[in-house]
Amino acid sequence: MDSKIELSLHELHKLADFLHKNTGIFMEEQKRLRFKRKIEDIFTKHDIDNFNHFYHQLRFVHNEELLQDLINAVTVNETYFWREHEQFRILTKEILPQMVTPHSLRHIRILVAPCSSGEEIYSIMLSILDAEDLLEKFNIEIVGIDIDSNMIQKAKKGLYTQRSVEKLPLHLLHRYFKKIGEFYQFDQELINMVQLKKLNIFEDGIVKKIGTFDIIFSRNMLIYFNKENKQHAFETFYILLKNNGYLFLGHADVNGLDKRLFQTTPYRFQVFQKKFAIA
Ligand SMILES: C[S@@+](CC[C@H](N)C(=O)[O-])C[C@H]1O[C@@H](n2cnc3c(N)ncnc32)[C@H](O)[C@@H]1O
Repeated sequence: MDSKIELSLHELHKLADFLHKNTGIFMEEQKRLRFKRKIEDIFTKHDIDNFNHFYHQLRFVHNEELLQDLINAVTVNETYFWREHEQFRILTKEILPQMVTPHSLRHIRILVAPCSSGEEIYSIMLSILDAEDLLEKFNIEIVGIDIDSNMIQKAKKGLYTQRSVEKLPLHLLHRYFKKIGEFYQFDQELINMVQLKKLNIFEDGIVKKIGTFDIIFSRNMLIYFNKENKQHAFETFYILLKNNGYLFLGHADVNGLDKRLFQTTPYRFQVFQKKFAIA
């Protein structure tokens, strides 16, 4: 695509500041140039050839489509099935079994924030399906959110490349995917069983929108946040978690975890538990 515009560094910084203030997304200064071309392509897509017009549309006209395109351009969506899979063993063999309630079906809510194109949320589902008799003891509801609308669409389609599924145990791949040409289509009935929503973790009133959870997975998003946003995210997870709820982080996300809100667990592998009250 031939770009309609060549952004200056000053304009790039202005957009980065706007995004940070309005969505919480923080583009590190050194990384901004990496997104320049993708952002310039949005000018072409919307037939805008002037920075001030683009900025005005964002700031004063509140052009939602433009803002969403900008968000989609700067998010890092990399993910794959069975990533950091030791945590799925901890979930199905250690944590869920101790949550069983005798003589009744326990309702459990799991949040995957962010879910990107679905590989993580479906890996969690598959690990639960693969664990003996868990489904007889629980009624499990799984919700995935991501700020990138393109990723939510991809997750709803459930069509994956060989590279994306290559770490998945073969028996799960054969059982729950259909090969279509060079792609792997995830089972549509299972896709229909999860709730996928485009949502910013920093959105006001998020609890009202999605409720509270027993378990939250938040892996490989916090690493892209600055200190202030990371703290905001931990406080949000604290509110979104029920008492004693568990927080699963990616190995690179742990730095800066607020120890007043979460405590370590014997499971290690970045699995934390909500503290009852702030000290
Ligand atoms: C690298 S992916 C991680 C996906 C998956 N959790 C994993 O570990 O494989 C990071 C995702 O975070 C999403 N994201 C970034 N900021 C967000 C926010 N404020 N609210 C919700 N999702 C966000 C991005 O759109 C992107 O899809």
